[in-house]
Amino acid sequence: MSNVTTVSLQQMKQQGEKIAVLTSYDASFTRLLEDAGVDVILVGDSLGMVIQGRESTLPVGVDEMVYHTACVARARRRALLVADMPFMSYSSADQALGTAGRLMKDGGAQMVKLEGGATQLETVRQLCANGIPVCAHLGLLPQSVHRLGGYRVQGRDQEAARIMLEDALALETAGAQMLVLECVPVALAGEISQALKIPVIGIGAGAGCDGQVLVLYDMLGITAGERPRFVRDFLPATCSVAGAIRAYVDAVKDGSFPAAAESFR
Ligand code: KIV
Repeated sequence: MSNVTTVSLQQMKQQGEKIAVLTSYDASFTRLLEDAGVDVILVGDSLGMVIQGRESTLPVGVDEMVYHTACVARARRRALLVADMPFMSYSSADQALGTAGRLMKDGGAQMVKLEGGATQLETVRQLCANGIPVCAHLGLLPQSVHRLGGYRVQGRDQEAARIMLEDALALETAGAQMLVLECVPVALAGEISQALKIPVIGIGAGAGCDGQVLVLYDMLGITAGERPRFVRDFLPATCSVAGAIRAYVDAVKDGSFPAAAESFR
């Protein structure tokens, strides 16, 4: 199978083929993700919580993201490799260029992800102008957890929903080539997915998105604490890590994940 690219992801959206995305932070898991046919691998700053045992993603630094991205890049074969820009590493367009440059040159990332809407438009434009593919991230923004007052569903009232749709369209116009929507009501996520030409990847955003992403350790049921509603533990039904990852890919591709009970109204 040929490499996944920004162009092939766009084609998958046009053809209605669901995009399977998972996080990975090291080479061994990345091999399993590749064997299972995962389309996009995200080196998420969620590593701060699931690898480093921190309470949020905020303390994660650029060096740590570069290190884990390089570990994943060594085992990547076909999937598109996306790396998160960590908190306070893209506060200006200039700083974002420096961070993205490191993630791509030293880490081997093929796309960078940043959180935020209207405030990030100039940064997205500058990154794109320099040949750096950008994945935007709207809805629940974990790097803004203190401003948001916790990990809660976003876009539930009419005004917030209107702003999110506007932000999504503006990010696409600015040059973003993919969008992650986190913890967004099903109807709004479906509307945004239909309004955009670029692929929209949901996490807690319902089955109407063009693809799904989960944190790898969550879908293997090994993350500490209560399991969020939008997470399915794929391990018990398959009894092997490789089997669980394959089951996740199959469930995303055939549209059986997420179910209504794993989504928000
Ligand atoms: O950091 C991460 O793993 C993410 C996903 C939850 C989308 O941003």
